[in-house]
Amino acid sequence: MKTIAFFNNKGGVGKTSLVYHLAWMYADLGMSVVAADLDPQANLTSMFIDEERLESLWPDGRHAQTVYGAIQPLLDGTGDIAPPYVEDAGEHIGLLVGDLALAVSEDELTGQWPECLDRKPRAFRVISAIWRVIEQAAREREAGVVLIDVGPNLGAVNRAALIAAEHVVIPLAPDLYSLQGLRNLGPTLRRWRNEWAERRSRNPVDDLSIPSGAMIPEGYVVMQDAVRLDRSVKAHDRWMARIPAVYREAVLDEKATAASRSTRDDPACLAGLKHYRSLMPFAQEARKPMFFLTAADGALGGHAKAVQDCYGDFRDLARTIASRCGLRLP
Ligand SMILES: Nc1ncnc2c1ncn2[C@@H]1O[C@H](COP(=O)(O)OP(=O)(O)OP(=O)(O)O)[C@@H](O)[C@H]1O
Ligand SMILES: [Mg+2]
Repeated sequence: MKTIAFFNNKGGVGKTSLVYHLAWMYADLGMSVVAADLDPQANLTSMFIDEERLESLWPDGRHAQTVYGAIQPLLDGTGDIAPPYVEDAGEHIGLLVGDLALAVSEDELTGQWPECLDRKPRAFRVISAIWRVIEQAAREREAGVVLIDVGPNLGAVNRAALIAAEHVVIPLAPDLYSLQGLRNLGPTLRRWRNEWAERRSRNPVDDLSIPSGAMIPEGYVVMQDAVRLDRSVKAHDRWMARIPAVYREAVLDEKATAASRSTRDDPACLAGLKHYRSLMPFAQEARKPMFFLTAADGALGGHAKAVQDCYGDFRDLARTIASRCGLRLP
């Protein structure tokens, strides 16, 4: 089972949309997939699940069927994690349902992190809780891959989510904020990896499954801009040209001088993903991925061709990510 997190500390760069579409694509390519919604905003869950069903998954004050619910007994001090509920979100797609309440666990995850250094059993249970929920869900679904969506911040929930990920893919946009995001994210991932390595070896609980914390950066996906009237092509090209060096320096911790001059010949660039314009609203309305839209969903005429191209783009991206992560497709 491979775990892949999609992460950038810059918001709105298409993390959730990527996880959603790749979940459908890997399922279409014959894999069993678990999609883990670890962003308390729960946007991924809202993409998969209609409002009526959401209401029953999120009853007032109760969390039995969400990812928060699975770790709640541990946080409340009434036990260890509960068996996670996994929602059928599509054929061969299991969803760990997001929950606003997950934000509440931020304090406990922050407080228990230093306690690991003192070999405290509870600290290891708390810090590994998200990993263990993911592992159990993947086992239940016999999943080949777990795709993890997180919110755009460097907080303790994300740290626990990221140490559960063996691989990290970084969606970004060609703009100033995305590059600043990379400059924060690269050193943070290294720090988390080192700090977890230091703690891991002190785990006193023999039979506790704890994550490796590899967090290997596998590359970035550039979201192409929608044509924006307030921005010149020149600005766009300038930011594009800077991405390889900033990624190399900030994320890979290597000399920027050796970086490619363009994302086109940068081995770290997994794909440039088009802005699919009108397909996205159709997809949200139909509650399906853009590449499965039909005429009945409004994808008529020129849209039908765009749907086909979109399928090809995501299939290629899914294959590229699989090969980087050593994920064997059926
Ligand atoms: N390839 C795409 N084509 C068209 N629209 C897109 C594409 N990718 C994302 N979007 C749109 O861009 C917006 C932001 O995308 P998304 O929510 O996936 O980003 P995010 O990085 O998960 O954001 P956050 O940081 O808030 O979690 C959404 O409105 C989404 O519909
Ligand atoms: Mg998101």
